[in-house]
Amino acid sequence: MDARQLKIEAARVALSHVEDGMRLGIGTGSTAEEFVRLLAARVAGGLRVVGVPTSERTAALCCELGVALTTLDETPELDLTIDGADEIDAELSLIKGGGGALLREKIVAAASSRMIAIADRSKLVDVLGRFPLPVEVNRFGLEATRRAVVRAAAGLGLNVEPTLRMTRGEPFVTDGGHLILDASFGRIPDTRALSDALHAIPGVVEHGLFLGLADTAIVAGDVGVETISAIR
Ligand code: A5P
Repeated sequence: MDARQLKIEAARVALSHVEDGMRLGIGTGSTAEEFVRLLAARVAGGLRVVGVPTSERTAALCCELGVALTTLDETPELDLTIDGADEIDAELSLIKGGGGALLREKIVAAASSRMIAIADRSKLVDVLGRFPLPVEVNRFGLEATRRAVVRAAAGLGLNVEPTLRMTRGEPFVTDGGHLILDASFGRIPDTRALSDALHAIPGVVEHGLFLGLADTAIVAGDVGVETISAIR
């Protein structure tokens, strides 16, 4: 099965968790887009749901395909968020933000009773950190914030040189108007400690460690789709 087909398979199983009348958080990225396409087909067949998109990109796709949207101001409590992930560990802690939508993704996931992460098996890891951790930062004081991230990591025994995410020769700008530092840790042995240390830096808006948010991961591989539940 090719990579796209694996994403579709994970999205298809996730769709079976969607019930009529649900208020959904709708993720961002190539796997979440496959979910939106399958969801739209069900909506065309009569399923009634409303969704809060986690990015302008997802909002545009939902509008194009006829998935009704709402906002967290109108609908502040959601039943279920379905979103992709860049890495997933055994506790269903995630790294997200490869697509740059981590802030809205985390706000939406936190407003949901449940979060399902959908991915292909390549996203499963023993220890988070192989994928560079996206850290969303305010433009103001960028270099001071970057150095504060280096110091915070060093305090935890982690060596990192965060780099400013660029796109087409310009800094990548998030939907919220912020910048992203990508921090390659290699391994993050204590994700909670790093999360707390990053949150303590004033210029850090949010980071891509999603801890205790996903209760289920639906992971597609060549031998089938596995549903993994968090043990809490
Ligand atoms: C978007 O900001 C990300 O969090 C995505 O959910 C994540 O990067 C997974 O994307 P893919 O499904 O494209 O791998």
